[in-house]
Amino acid sequence: MKELRILKPIAKLEDIAALDPIVDVAKSIVLAVVKPRALEDVLHGVPFGHPIHPLLVLFPTGAWASVAVLDLVPGAERAARLLTGFGVLTAVPTALTGETDWARLHIQQQRVGIVHAALNVTGVALYSGSWFARRAGNQGFGKLLAFAGLGAISAGGYLGGHLSYRQASGANHTEDVPHRFPSGWQPLGALEDLPERQLAERTVEGQPLLVFRRGRRVDVLSNVCSHLSGPLHEGTLGQDQAAGPCVECPWHGSVFSIENGEVLQGPATSPQPVFRARVTGDVVEVLLPNAG
Ligand code: FES
Repeated sequence: MKELRILKPIAKLEDIAALDPIVDVAKSIVLAVVKPRALEDVLHGVPFGHPIHPLLVLFPTGAWASVAVLDLVPGAERAARLLTGFGVLTAVPTALTGETDWARLHIQQQRVGIVHAALNVTGVALYSGSWFARRAGNQGFGKLLAFAGLGAISAGGYLGGHLSYRQASGANHTEDVPHRFPSGWQPLGALEDLPERQLAERTVEGQPLLVFRRGRRVDVLSNVCSHLSGPLHEGTLGQDQAAGPCVECPWHGSVFSIENGEVLQGPATSPQPVFRARVTGDVVEVLLPNAG
């Protein structure tokens, strides 16, 4: 089916470089607000295993969709005002999580994201005005502002969908690894060709792998960062007190345990696929347990 022509300019938002100065200012403000990094990780959703922004979106949008229905029902003014205010209050943490994720995206995603945010801020302002109008007894004007707000957040929601589904922000970028890697043990190469205690990249069956050797022990992860596909072998090798050797992604600073792929620092929320490795003679072989 052909894409609606009216929607084509939305995809072009990704290329509007004129938005970049606004993006830069907004990004520096967001990153200053969400310090320290532990707070940023909670807002990304690292402890929850995926971004929490989509979950929080449910509260304001659910409330405001209900307001639209209640505004058509005589005698439901009190409930409509209550839900209007509930939506405004819950929009605050929702926006904070969304902006935190946005601050660690590629520029094309950030251009779309800044317009998404502007529409949602407009929506919140209209619903705030609606709440005050209703409280002042001006139900008609309150309803008018609420329906205008619904239009703004609906447009913002459409852009949120573009960000999530077309631009794949927030998605796990390693989900396909088990589908593309063959089952069973696969040869990776000679052990002696692997550098000692250094990040190295090897490709097995077309799959880029991050390889880390300590003597005859070899740890292997997908080399594609689960956040936005950054090349982990170009990152920084570190040492976590509890998790041991770790790698920091060069693109947005996610940190993963090299031994088990666990996320030690966001913005990534999905762990790296971990390959089992064995040394047979002098040849390293790898196996992805759930592959094929
Ligand atoms: S690609 Fe973003 S942290 Fe790795």
